[in-house]
Amino acid sequence: AGIFNRAPVAGSQPATLTAQLTPLTILFASQTGTSEALAKQAAKEAGKRGFAPAILDMAEVSAEQLPNHANLLVITSTYGDGEPPDTAKALHTVLREGSHAFAGLRYSVCALGDTNYTLFCQAGKDFDAYFEKHGATRISPRTDCDVDYEAPFNAWLDTTLNALGASSAAPVPVTEASPPSAPVAYDKKNPFPAPVLAIRNLNGPGSAKEVNHVEFDLTGSGLVYEAGDALGVIPQNCPDLVSAIIASLDCDGEEAVPTPVGELPLRTALTVHYELGKPAPALLELLNVTTPVHHVLDALHATATKPAPSAFVATLKKIQPRLYSISSSPKAHPTQVHLTVGAVRYELNGLPRKGVCSTFLAERALAHGTAGIFVHSNKAFRPPADLNAPIIMVGPGTGIAPFRAFLEERAATQAPGKNWLFFGDQKASSDFLYQNELTALQSAGVLTRLDLAFSRDQPEKIYVQTKMLAAADELYAWLEQGAYFYVCGDASRMAKDVDAALHKAIELAGKKSPEEATAYVQSLKTAKRYQRDVY
Ligand code: 2AM
Repeated sequence: AGIFNRAPVAGSQPATLTAQLTPLTILFASQTGTSEALAKQAAKEAGKRGFAPAILDMAEVSAEQLPNHANLLVITSTYGDGEPPDTAKALHTVLREGSHAFAGLRYSVCALGDTNYTLFCQAGKDFDAYFEKHGATRISPRTDCDVDYEAPFNAWLDTTLNALGASSAAPVPVTEASPPSAPVAYDKKNPFPAPVLAIRNLNGPGSAKEVNHVEFDLTGSGLVYEAGDALGVIPQNCPDLVSAIIASLDCDGEEAVPTPVGELPLRTALTVHYELGKPAPALLELLNVTTPVHHVLDALHATATKPAPSAFVATLKKIQPRLYSISSSPKAHPTQVHLTVGAVRYELNGLPRKGVCSTFLAERALAHGTAGIFVHSNKAFRPPADLNAPIIMVGPGTGIAPFRAFLEERAATQAPGKNWLFFGDQKASSDFLYQNELTALQSAGVLTRLDLAFSRDQPEKIYVQTKMLAAADELYAWLEQGAYFYVCGDASRMAKDVDAALHKAIELAGKKSPEEATAYVQSLKTAKRYQRDVY
């Protein structure tokens, strides 16, 4: 197990783990945006001091998930008559009323308020008391800030980070008998709020496509992955779509509605917690809509009925993560995970439509700061354990994603086996994804052979399977040398055509009947030398 397999430990860390940065979650509750801005400021400062900060909105977390965050900086304002911000009401109520086991969790509260009000900083005072009541340990005393919050906020942040820095650096005696604290376990139910490091469009000018390279920071998360795995991403809905739905309901967005983490304002609930795609039959019934409609918003537009916001929300499905093939190798990027995501945009019935997660990543994830992620392992899609085995990869369009990971992996492990990539897309000038990286891998001798199929650079279509057939002899020779054959991308057409081309190449080059070629492909499958990641 290398550094990639180390999980962070809640509480004090042994000196041998100092290479692993201390995870720090900055939990904020904002009404007008001040707490959120301060949370970003705190994350920046913590990052500079060697912590692994992640920012989390109280609207996005349940009480059950809190113990998974070893170190919590809580920043909350107070609003109205000593109340927490709307986005924090659910958590506030649950912490006040329920019983929770927060032992092992360390926290400190920075409360924002205004001394002109009687219940000055009441929400911060409440959260501070609730965390203590449920067994959490204070890192530093709470600070209550008046309208001039900058100086006290900075002092609180400095004191708290110093206290954390000191305790996380303290070596734990090897003789210590107590069992180590449980490692943070992020998964689908409890995604890691990963800082978004970069989003980069991979297409050149004039492209019909928009493919984005996305980088997340895994520092302190304990998340591990392998080349071939997928990443689950929890999206947030488009604010314009949310506003349009709120308007169609004759609401203002402040209406309290139920969510899986408790009651929240309608706007937060629709942005963070619910799917706003295809309407459920229950919604059509509620709205008395009988014509076919494709989207919740279309359903609302098709009727004059104005349902109560909570009745509307009750018909919606909880927001679902989207899975993407990971495009990085952890051996090349030990603290990061990368994706290659095509932005889905199209028009339907005269209205522009957007893929929920692909456009969340393209348009808002970077500004939002973090996205909830988890690793979805894909054990049936792996580079060969035998580093000498040659590999053939067919990945047009975003199908290149896992093969960028495979090539990084082969470079990092100095695998002597040959590597052959078939890549295709519309135009060489604008759609040659990762061109510089692939060229560099060729020069370095890692990418042995690169066959390109740009379909729209000439009158006739040239596809990856066209190139496979043109190189049938060589392809068959590689298979005879024990090559593994991988395909990633579109399942409905491309993967079927590539499968047919593989059979054909074996027939032609191996001088086999169709039945013999089928048996040959079957033997590749049995030997796990034909692996597909298609969707
Ligand atoms: P086209 O859109 O010009 O037809 C990535 O999207 C690439 O896959 C594009 O060049 C696209 O070509 C191509 N493509 C479309 N259908 C395909 C198929 N059945 N097999 C292989 N590639 C295909």
